[in-house]
Amino acid sequence: MKLRKKLAKGFMEKVNLAAKFNKFDDYWSPKIVAELNDSYVLLAKLKGDFVWHKHENEDELFLVVKGNLLIKLRDRDVQLGAGEFFIVPKGTEHFPVAEQEVQIILLEPKTTKHTGEIVTEKTVTEYERV
Ligand code: NI
Repeated sequence: MKLRKKLAKGFMEKVNLAAKFNKFDDYWSPKIVAELNDSYVLLAKLKGDFVWHKHENEDELFLVVKGNLLIKLRDRDVQLGAGEFFIVPKGTEHFPVAEQEVQIILLEPKTTKHTGEIVTEKTVTEYERV
């Protein structure tokens, strides 16, 4: 059992993003699609406003797969289209906004809390897997 678990963990099938995104509909609720080293690869659908928050110790990568995402920072706005990514540096307050539905990939350490040190009705404490 232990060995099987070990083998399963190191074995990775290729991932079809469209098929994975079809598996869920909820917004602002990242899903674990893979893990590497100490990080998760997460998929999320976003629509509307999120919340201002920061991650004190973790950089967070936002890669847009579909749609347009606005990431507000305190000193500027970053507008991302499909095929573009931005890394929010650790300790930097950010506020993602999606006027229409956006599909994104997030890459961040497993220790990263969804909404940083604040808790709102949007906060997810345990991510589902797809
Ligand atoms: Ni964040």
